[in-house]
Amino acid sequence: MAYLELQNVSVHYPVRDTWGTTGEVVRAVDDVSLSVERGQILGLVGESGCGKSTLSRAIMQLQPVTSGRIVLRGEDLTALPAREIRKRRLDFQMVFQDPYASLNPRFSIFSTLVEALSCREKLPRHRREEAVAELMNRVGLSPEHMYKYPHEFSGGQRQRIAIARAIAPRPALLLADEPVSALDVSIQSQILNLLTDLTRELGLTMIFISHDLSVVHYLADEIAVMRRGKIVEYGSAENVFHSPQAEYTRKLLAAIPRLFPAT
Ligand SMILES: Nc1ncnc2c1ncn2[C@@H]1O[C@H](COP(=O)(O)OP(=O)(O)OP(=O)(O)O)[C@@H](O)[C@H]1O
Ligand SMILES: [Mg+2]
Repeated sequence: MAYLELQNVSVHYPVRDTWGTTGEVVRAVDDVSLSVERGQILGLVGESGCGKSTLSRAIMQLQPVTSGRIVLRGEDLTALPAREIRKRRLDFQMVFQDPYASLNPRFSIFSTLVEALSCREKLPRHRREEAVAELMNRVGLSPEHMYKYPHEFSGGQRQRIAIARAIAPRPALLLADEPVSALDVSIQSQILNLLTDLTRELGLTMIFISHDLSVVHYLADEIAVMRRGKIVEYGSAENVFHSPQAEYTRKLLAAIPRLFPAT
């Protein structure tokens, strides 16, 4: 049985104009079926507006589905009452594109991480510094900076803080929505390596979203290519990258800028 399975998931948004809803819908996610095995990384790729974030919000139960089922460990999340969803929410965590927007500027890193570490059970006061230091080491940050604030860090370091906060409640599923798109190219691979290492070390299952097929290929086991709400190609990362079947995937591949063009 797959760890996470999406069965014919659709999310339609009503189209509104000045007078209210028009009766038409935007098919942001349209009949998507996917599955992820435990411990694997699924890369979800497609151009802006194809429905990637809508799909990830639906998986996180932050967006109701119009139809279809989202089955986690054999349990249909779309059929659960809100109270049950809240209980499971700590099991899935997200990392977003802009770490600055997702971190509270008034909280020191220590406060942010203590809060995240205390989600499941309260952390005794005398254990706090040690637990924060351990978490910071784990994501490649020096614990001596734990009493600093988000604006005192670089973009890459802030994304490390956001990742530390996401793994603090010991989630089972990590959803990373364009986590490196706002970073310098030189920093991107460091963050991608960190995410890959954490996935292996902590036995996480990850869905990694990007508009960039080369970034997804770097870390994903399987790749799903999305276009206008639909999955147009789905398979092992090697197959999708090296022998794409869909015309659209070939176009995405051709659009990847090459630093060192073949001579
Ligand atoms: N709350 C909403 N209400 C109505 N339409 C929406 C809403 N959110 C998204 N959409 C529309 O749904 C489609 C998919 O949007 P979504 O944000 O999921 O795409 P995306 O692939 O994440 O894009 P990007 O790469 O720009 O982040 C778009 O046409 C968007 O305009
Ligand atoms: Mg998006």
